[in-house]
Amino acid sequence: MVNSMQVIREWFTSYMRSFQEGDSPLEPLLDLKLRHSFRVSGEAGFLAREIGLDAGSVDVAETLGLLHDVGRFPQYREFRTFYDASSVDHGELGWETVKRSRILERLEDRAKFAILDGIRFHNKREIPSGIRPSSLAMVKLIRDADKLDVFELVQDYLDRGTIRELLPRIPDTGRVSGELLDTLSETGRASYSQVRSVPDFLLVQLSWVFDLNFQPSFRRILERRVIERIENRLPRIPQVIRLAGKARDFVRASAEAGEGTLDGE
Ligand SMILES: [Fe+2]
Repeated sequence: MVNSMQVIREWFTSYMRSFQEGDSPLEPLLDLKLRHSFRVSGEAGFLAREIGLDAGSVDVAETLGLLHDVGRFPQYREFRTFYDASSVDHGELGWETVKRSRILERLEDRAKFAILDGIRFHNKREIPSGIRPSSLAMVKLIRDADKLDVFELVQDYLDRGTIRELLPRIPDTGRVSGELLDTLSETGRASYSQVRSVPDFLLVQLSWVFDLNFQPSFRRILERRVIERIENRLPRIPQVIRLAGKARDFVRASAEAGEGTLDGE
């Protein structure tokens, strides 16, 4: 198993190289995705260990972390955007790409399908109900690991004042949209189509915490003060304060809830 994982990682590296022009480095936005992939691999491995998975499953989690965004590369090459709604579903494209590479053929079916399903469903609004039961824990895990890194990534871009590079389509206004606030207050969820500003994007990110699956993910959110860092960048209006409070209560309760760490199974 360890050997096959090594082969997969080598394939990933050479696939990445195919997106470089000669000796020049990867384009900045692809380099960002590459670094994100390595960090998500680390987060996925951490979560897998924390919830007590065996060594083989930790390997699967780390590999899935590395591969989950593989579709971003052909997506960007063809469409010059990461915006799925106006290009292609990068989860589907990554799934196709890895299937076509036949790089997972040496794995047992369970590991192979968990990685393929993880890539395919990491970015879907909901996990489809018909998913293979043996893949469910890995799909939940990659969704958590991905979010944990994107929280940090967005804050990092905000800190460096370069958020426009990351979110070029979002107008640079400081206002939050009333429509988005209403949807979030009523349903707890909102879609990107309602996002009209960076604070709107941060509000949607805040709502991601309700979609996390594993206790260690909630503990990470607390340790890294994710809610507070987002809240500090939002206008202090009653509806925002209420939403942030709800998110914080939910994270605290979920981080403390029992020790049933395999609740994603
Ligand atoms: Fe992704």
